[in-house]
Amino acid sequence: MSDKDTMNVSEAQIAVHWQEEDYYHPSTDFIAQANMTDKSIYQRFSLDNFPEYFKEYADMLDWDQYWHTTLDTSDAPCWKWFVGGKLNASANCIDRHLAKNRNKAAFIYLPEPEDETHQVITYQELYVRVNEMAALLRDFAGVKAGDRVTIHMPMVPELPVTMLACARLGAIHSVVFGGFSGKACGERVADSGSKVLVTMDAYYRSGKLLEHKSKADEAVRVAATEGQVVEKVLVWQRYVGKNSSNTAMAEGRDYFVYDALKEFSGKRVAPVSMPAEAPLFLMYTSGTTGRPKGCQHGIGGYLAYVTATSKYVQDIHPEDVYWCMADIGWITGHSYIVYGPLALGASSVLFEGVPTYPDGGRPWRIAERLGVNIFHTAPTTVRMLRKAAPDEPAKYDYHFKHMTTVGEPIEPEVWKWYHEVVGKGEAAIVDTWWQTETGGFLCSTMPALQGMKPGSAGPSMPGIHAIIYDEDGHEVPAGSGIAGNICIRNPWPGQFQTIWGDRNRYVETYYAKYNTNPASKDWRDWPYFPGDAAVQAADGYYRILGRVDDVINVAGHRLGTKEIESACMVVPEVAEAAVVPVADEVKGKVPDVYVSLKPGYEPSPEIEKAISDAISDNIGKIAKPKHIYIVPDMPKTRSGKIMRRVLSSISNGADVGDVTTLANPEIVEEVRRMVQGGGEDESYFG
Ligand code: WTA
Repeated sequence: MSDKDTMNVSEAQIAVHWQEEDYYHPSTDFIAQANMTDKSIYQRFSLDNFPEYFKEYADMLDWDQYWHTTLDTSDAPCWKWFVGGKLNASANCIDRHLAKNRNKAAFIYLPEPEDETHQVITYQELYVRVNEMAALLRDFAGVKAGDRVTIHMPMVPELPVTMLACARLGAIHSVVFGGFSGKACGERVADSGSKVLVTMDAYYRSGKLLEHKSKADEAVRVAATEGQVVEKVLVWQRYVGKNSSNTAMAEGRDYFVYDALKEFSGKRVAPVSMPAEAPLFLMYTSGTTGRPKGCQHGIGGYLAYVTATSKYVQDIHPEDVYWCMADIGWITGHSYIVYGPLALGASSVLFEGVPTYPDGGRPWRIAERLGVNIFHTAPTTVRMLRKAAPDEPAKYDYHFKHMTTVGEPIEPEVWKWYHEVVGKGEAAIVDTWWQTETGGFLCSTMPALQGMKPGSAGPSMPGIHAIIYDEDGHEVPAGSGIAGNICIRNPWPGQFQTIWGDRNRYVETYYAKYNTNPASKDWRDWPYFPGDAAVQAADGYYRILGRVDDVINVAGHRLGTKEIESACMVVPEVAEAAVVPVADEVKGKVPDVYVSLKPGYEPSPEIEKAISDAISDNIGKIAKPKHIYIVPDMPKTRSGKIMRRVLSSISNGADVGDVTTLANPEIVEEVRRMVQGGGEDESYFG
């Protein structure tokens, strides 16, 4: 058994010891108003009717030209949906709502400082801003259909405006999470081949106005080392007409968007009618090896899937005030702040700041003030709010009819607090399991059709046919409660099309494990393997146990252990680095870093700081380790492989098991004493 397998099995075993919880049921009031109350949807979306059942989702969109082929498998496993169809995503998210809802709020934006008033951006206003920005991108920056544009921005309305302006032109946006470093952004600029980078001068985070534009300078430098020239850097301003960054603007390269926009005031740009299978965006996500993968999502399939799931799972009606407290820089924000809700003509709330600043009551003040009735967040935020201000929600007069959790498994205790305290016992909750790659939800209860079970994501979505396989490709009996690798048997429209520029890696990572005939054009031969372990209970509900690869899920964000290890290796004194996930009360998992030094170097606070800085610079603060341990040597197998499993057990206070076969068993005890105490090395440099 490999090092990796041992780690997975133990993680799965721990989880399977969790007991199954009792059901909670949605209220009759909720059911009476819900968008999806028809149980027969599961029959309509049975495999016998595949793939035609997805017509129901595609018909939620406006097509310039209707499609002729639902699913084209000729280039399996790169699936093409709704072939022959033409449409534009920005027209579907904006223009089609104007006739009836021109003056309805599309976005309600809340700056972090509470004394800055919120902004309501109506569909008409969004239409105007997106058109002007599209004109600027096209006529000033030379962006045309198929070009990639990297967007490195915080949570401000200018972010979705820029995304939708790209979509209007048929250009492919690649949004990089604002908290990522300039270097991480530059690598994504280079990989995507972006000539235009859109950024911002500064933004608020926990009460501080953070400078941001200098990251663009770094990104341009890094992209250049990989041969990608950025021709234009477009800089939005946190305060219109004022520069909140003290970094220089490079002559002939950097431009303030608000200045350049003056020329395009009132301009209209006809939405470019694009083939359904043309790419809408790239979203980079961490994988097992260092280089992040650019997940490519197509226009027609993706938009149809997120629109339908926003309607049925998020239960969004036009009159709802919907708040997804995620960052648009992640897939949740793309699908369930921007594209899904806007395609439905909803009012979607955007919040710049952190949920617990200035105190844990902030989200509830916002909910009360705006009359939010649908709330969507991640377990890490729920844990954070529960810790910071457990009794706060009761003090505010808001009522959620519906709440979502997404991004990682939620502990039943935390779920119950979310239900009773945040949801005041009134809200239907969905626990939605999915990924960057999948575009939209894979498992979730349909909120009016099934009971909720804390800790379980629920059955697979209508039209998504999940199956659990063991390592050897045998089917684990359905409903048996035995852990295995969860897979999806059929393609679906929301699924990504490929990894940008790396089809082989796409096939290798997601299909090779369970595909038996690489030449097959039959979708039945290509189960999709998302990389998660799961169990299915007798009632058909899936409980997700976590990732089986080397990816750490920190506060719902995916980080590759390899990425962090490579960042450590940048420090000249470091010889070896190993990163393992350690349980954290609030963030779920955080990285613990182990390094050994090259001969002749002694551990010091300076080296420790250099490692910490290298991680922040190369990836971003999000990857900040819980501890950095400078160890005399790594526990290793005789073949020289670092035993991450042993380090992981040490970090998590678990039994390290039998280590006698290691090349250097004595080092295990030494490291354990250093980490867990009982030796004088305890609390290394604090
Ligand atoms: C994990 C976020 C348990 C899972 C949408 C997946 C979850 C990874 C859940 C994708 C959930 C996501 N319960 N685990 N409800 N949702 N995950 O790409 O391991 O940032 O593979 O997409 O998060 O993370 P990503």
